[in-house]
Amino acid sequence: MSLDRATVRSPSSIANVGPGFDVFGIALNEPYDTIEVRKTSEPGVHVESVSGMGSYAVTLDNTKNTAAVAASQVLRMAKVDFGITMKINKGIRPASGMGSSGASAAGGAYAANQLLDRPLDMNSLILAASYGEEASSGSRHADNAGPALMGGFTIIRSYEPMDVIRIDPPRNLGIVATLPEFAVSTRDARKKVPKSVPIHDVIHQIGHASSLAVGMVRGDMGLIARSINDIIIEPARAPLVPHLKEAERAAMNAGAIASFLGGSGPCIAAFYDTDKVNGVDIAAAVQRFYEGHGVECFCWVTSWGEGCRVVNK
Ligand code: HSE
Repeated sequence: MSLDRATVRSPSSIANVGPGFDVFGIALNEPYDTIEVRKTSEPGVHVESVSGMGSYAVTLDNTKNTAAVAASQVLRMAKVDFGITMKINKGIRPASGMGSSGASAAGGAYAANQLLDRPLDMNSLILAASYGEEASSGSRHADNAGPALMGGFTIIRSYEPMDVIRIDPPRNLGIVATLPEFAVSTRDARKKVPKSVPIHDVIHQIGHASSLAVGMVRGDMGLIARSINDIIIEPARAPLVPHLKEAERAAMNAGAIASFLGGSGPCIAAFYDTDKVNGVDIAAAVQRFYEGHGVECFCWVTSWGEGCRVVNK
């Protein structure tokens, strides 16, 4: 039976894991956005309020707000005649590289789906959320919305038709997300993506991407570590994130098995083995490094997590 209202928690995520630009993403346990929806007889989606981290930068305009666009898409796909009012609480700062717009888009789609008599399937929700992403970044990528909806590590096998696969990463895969205080917009970062690449680089990326997926399935931390290497997108975007390589090195020196640019940045993501290393030490090392350059950082020492869920009916 469908609901008249729902409150949904939608997690942050790290997209572009290693060589998986627009393909790989991993859901984080925290931080998360919270989206509250209520059915209305008036058609359309109305954003009542946006609160929380960086909410001043989030529009109430339902043709541009990622959660509203995604929810509208769900209503359109389901061909229903009712509308929705929505309240958004941001736990994830926009322009962070931690899937802020993806979490809102995923949460908007998932919450709208709770109000349907015949709910849409997961790939349809991810497609709807990708329209939300397009409203904010100009591109319909789904490598944040995918993990935010499905949880775990996700692979976008195909965009047309949308086909997303979830893998459970190893239990002992810890994640540190360090967020220096500067902002990088995905729209700007996408302008840095090269239009064409040498076949040699494509071969490198395919090899590393394939072995990263196998590493995730097998729970092989060594293979995961060896496979996180992107020679196309991260180098092109590095100029947008001051001290990126040195910050990654600081994470590695403190015990991370891999460190890379989270999404379109500026998040510095680090993977570590929770059985061997304390993630707090990695966070502290990256934070100390940036503070040495006069840049403040937020850090999350967390793990991979589950996708959107209803927290209150
Ligand atoms: N794959 C997207 C990009 C993710 O890098 O542009 C944005 O967080």
